Amino acid sequence: MSAARTGTLGAHTAGQLRRLCALTGLDPADTQTYADVLTTALGGAAGRPLDLPPPSGTFLSDDHTPVEFSLSFTAGAAPSLRVLLEPGCGAGSLERGGRTALAVVREMARRWDFSTERLDGLRDLLLPPAPHGPLALWIALELRRGGVPKVKVYLNPSASGPERAAHTVREALRRLGHERAFDALPPADGYPFLALDLGDWEAPRAKVYLMHRDLSATEAAGLARTAPLPPADGLAAFFRAVAGPAAERGLDRRPGLTCHAFTDPGSGRPSGFTLHIPVRDYVRHDGEALDRAAGVLTAHGIDPDPLVRALPALTARRPQDGVGLIAYLALAHQAGAPPRLTAYVSSEAYAVRSPVPARPAAEPVH
Ligand code: TRP
Repeated sequence: MSAARTGTLGAHTAGQLRRLCALTGLDPADTQTYADVLTTALGGAAGRPLDLPPPSGTFLSDDHTPVEFSLSFTAGAAPSLRVLLEPGCGAGSLERGGRTALAVVREMARRWDFSTERLDGLRDLLLPPAPHGPLALWIALELRRGGVPKVKVYLNPSASGPERAAHTVREALRRLGHERAFDALPPADGYPFLALDLGDWEAPRAKVYLMHRDLSATEAAGLARTAPLPPADGLAAFFRAVAGPAAERGLDRRPGLTCHAFTDPGSGRPSGFTLHIPVRDYVRHDGEALDRAAGVLTAHGIDPDPLVRALPALTARRPQDGVGLIAYLALAHQAGAPPRLTAYVSSEAYAVRSPVPARPAAEPVH
């Protein structure tokens, strides 16, 4: 399903960002700064009219918009707004896209005075010449007050070959000082991302994302490797509330992901665990996804109202008229911090996935 689309990719996504900034309490100066940062990072793709096809086939989002927003919630605090983007989306190839994105990271590092050393040391492994797909380099920005975002980069463990992904992750962790980290990871069916915090973080993380096919609520609760472990019943309850009936049979459509964050080189164990559920593949429409999100937020003592208001900040369509606006719901446990819930919300600059039709009433039997 797609409506007539006018304007440019940059204007569309910057407009969404401005409305989300307003509802998360960022002031007009910070909002202006972050809208400019997004537009600049998209480069030439920002000026691309929306009635042309997406600039790349990126899987950053389902409709290939190279931008996705997220709202991250902890009890008792205002939600924080983040934006994930693919700066190299307009470059024409994965290799050139990777180079473009790296240049954008370096420009951000100069502007906000942080070091790219941790990334530079991995370049041969994760940004090689002639890289394998499906991504090269994505950037996520946490849009803090003050106009200086926190920066994360997302890299592709399969860049040096899908069959080398496990080795690449092990070697990257080793270079980052986490010698024994790889052996602490639970079993997985794939390594979709390796992410690094760059810049002004109290404890910069190296994060390994694992893919798990047919994951069930009970299995998911057993995948954390932090000390102490997050409460297994809380993870299972989150999983059931988000995945619905699929929680027992397992996530048989898009797989669940776990993320293991390493901050302390000495310990050999991750200090953070996140469970990501692709809610969009387990609901009929976004009204249902929003109900599930509101349920888990409320269960954690968090007001769902900012998320409810985020949807009309993104699109004029009604939640029940499509599915995918809420892409993932995630529950994160980081040592020493309260649990955090994150909703990843789509730009839908190019397309809306149709809702799953309600099952037709049974034919009368004659
Ligand atoms: N769209 C991709 C996916 O569904 C990548 C992605 C974007 C993603 N945002 C995410 C993965 C948030 C996990 C969590 O896998």
